[in-house]
Amino acid sequence: MPRPTRLFRKLLLVLSSCMISSIALTALYLWLIGVTPPPGDPVFKVGGMPVVPIFIAVLASLVFGAFLAWYLSRPLAHLRWGLQRMAEGQLGTRVEPLMNGRRDEITDLAHDIDGMAAQLQAMIAARDRLLHDISHELRSPLSRIQAAIGLLRQGSAPAEGMVDRVERETERLDALIDEMLTLHRLTAAAPIARSAVDVVEILHDIAADADFEARARNRAVRIETPERFVAQVDGDLVYRAFENVIRNAVKHTAEGSAVDVRARLAEGGQLEVVVSDRGPGVPPQMLEAIFEPFVRIDPRDTGRGSGLGLAIARSALQAHGGTIQALLGDEGGLQVRMRLQPGPPAAPVP
Ligand SMILES: Nc1ncnc2c1ncn2[C@@H]1O[C@H](COP(=O)(O)OP(=O)(O)O)[C@@H](O)[C@H]1O
Ligand SMILES: [Mg+2]
Repeated sequence: MPRPTRLFRKLLLVLSSCMISSIALTALYLWLIGVTPPPGDPVFKVGGMPVVPIFIAVLASLVFGAFLAWYLSRPLAHLRWGLQRMAEGQLGTRVEPLMNGRRDEITDLAHDIDGMAAQLQAMIAARDRLLHDISHELRSPLSRIQAAIGLLRQGSAPAEGMVDRVERETERLDALIDEMLTLHRLTAAAPIARSAVDVVEILHDIAADADFEARARNRAVRIETPERFVAQVDGDLVYRAFENVIRNAVKHTAEGSAVDVRARLAEGGQLEVVVSDRGPGVPPQMLEAIFEPFVRIDPRDTGRGSGLGLAIARSALQAHGGTIQALLGDEGGLQVRMRLQPGPPAAPVP
């Protein structure tokens, strides 16, 4: 628990000196204007000085000075104690309850410190979870590679098939690591390399490729866009964001149905892109969660996609000052709404 601080001693000295000097100046004033003690008055006993009132005033000054110094310095000692514990890694420490119901700027500061600790705690928990998930995701292909090598050694499976398997798993690992690095680059808030890009052209390229692949599986991709939308963006990142969302829609849309990609100019000069499919959609409580790394509705998807597609899409759009949101479509299926602005976001006013 906190000990009295140097601040306490300083405040005590300053406050008591203020009060004592005001008493001394009043006594000096009385002496200068020549107030004489009434004969036989017990108050003015020693050499004409009002000893008892002066003694009481000095004592009161010391008591009030001490109280005021304690009142001001004690919460700061609590804050210091809390910050020290947080610095030692105990982020569950909270200092606001130690303010004993005071309502002033120091309590506001305690509230802000608690908020910061809670945020750091959540961030660290998310990192821990991510580390755990990454280890898990890397382990699956590695186990399959080990199994293939084992079978190869035993000679109990055709060598060519096993080599193909090892090759596929290695490619999957490579793609997963590439996506993890992209996500890391985006969440590390590194500046993005912007250049003038026609986003509508990117959308048409992705839709054409996706449609080509979808047709082989009796599905289609339809696209409707304005003529052009030239924006200052990192073309590669924007491509990845839209491609992930459109490929997800093609993957999940029902057989014989089409995915719609509709882009329009929205308020604020933004481009709104809505991708709708006719698939099973996701449970409403998962509409936000699917943007978290490695969250999949169907565990059977593990090993097929990296599980990072939507996390990358969200980070990529947010890095451009844009937004992404998943909704349940009117005709069933999932609807992903994205917004992108034509240039860098305006710098926040400090
Ligand atoms: N259009 C969609 N319809 C239904 N579920 C979807 C759709 N898009 C994404 N999801 C769900 O969100 C999860 C996360 O998507 P994503 O981050 O792209 O990872 P994945 O690599 O599995 O595609 C998917 O595993 C899937 O369960
Ligand atoms: Mg995906």
